[in-house]
Amino acid sequence: MEKSISEYKVKLLNVGCGQRFHEDWTNIDFVSTEKGVIPYNLLEGIPFENETFDVVYHSHVLEHFSKQDGKRFMQECKRVLKKNGIIRVAVPNLEEIAKIYLQSLKGAINGDFSDQLNYEWIMLELFDQTVRNFSGGEMAKYFHQDVIKNEEFVFSRVGEEGRIIRELYFKEKNKEKKNHTKKYFFKEVLKKIFSFQAYRNKLLSIFFTKEYKRIKENEKYIKIGKFRMGGEIHQWMYDRYSLPRLLSELEFTDIYTTSAFDSRIQDWNKYELESKNNIAFKPDSLFIEAFKR
Ligand SMILES: C[S@@+](CC[C@H](N)C(=O)[O-])C[C@H]1O[C@@H](n2cnc3c(N)ncnc32)[C@H](O)[C@@H]1O
Repeated sequence: MEKSISEYKVKLLNVGCGQRFHEDWTNIDFVSTEKGVIPYNLLEGIPFENETFDVVYHSHVLEHFSKQDGKRFMQECKRVLKKNGIIRVAVPNLEEIAKIYLQSLKGAINGDFSDQLNYEWIMLELFDQTVRNFSGGEMAKYFHQDVIKNEEFVFSRVGEEGRIIRELYFKEKNKEKKNHTKKYFFKEVLKKIFSFQAYRNKLLSIFFTKEYKRIKENEKYIKIGKFRMGGEIHQWMYDRYSLPRLLSELEFTDIYTTSAFDSRIQDWNKYELESKNNIAFKPDSLFIEAFKR
């Protein structure tokens, strides 16, 4: 029988957990990919009573909400946190991104090749994650090149996660090579089916031009809207000034910056939520903790 929400383990809460969760924690995300992750839209609040948890944690989630929704979300984190409980927040560090942007811009203008490459990458961190209208955006294309000329720099930014994406890319590519002949046959059949559909669409577009175009346009906008509300894109960014300020506006206290490896959460490294074997998953982050008194 399905467990009701109130029967799940409490005390430690990981919201917007994605693929990084631990069984000792209560884990929530939009879509539950695994057993032990509660599916819930955090824009509707956090589905627990006041003062349920000793720790509330989220990593690379806050920036996916608008500034206003982000504040409401942080208020919800505070509501479900017990008195003297800890909140830990990790976000991309806008200050570092901006610094790298300025440095690489300068070098790129002066003709430095590695700065030119790094400039391309940092623009993806700065903008592609915000403006993209399809999953992965230009950043996925960058990872799916056979050779990434500034790979070391990119890995220094995205850490272990980048290596995992690259490994997956090469695995898929090898699989594709093996399946090529089978795939080629199906591709040809599919091509024929779709070219028939293309003729049909062309005919429809001639006879019902205006209405057809309007429907198609609406479909496209709905698709984009759904994607942009789907939790992948960045809607706001934070730095070591604005995140502590937000926390203090919400009357959190003892606010301090920390690292992927350090925390006042007991046995933090044991859970391997931000690092494994002394390697940080997202070294490009700003890590902040605070208390509810
Ligand atoms: C960049 S991932 C970070 C995942 C994980 N915390 C980590 O550090 O690897 C952002 C996560 O937030 C989730 N998310 C974004 N908006 C959400 C929402 N409104 N409700 C629930 N989850 C949301 C996404 O589904 C995604 O898993």
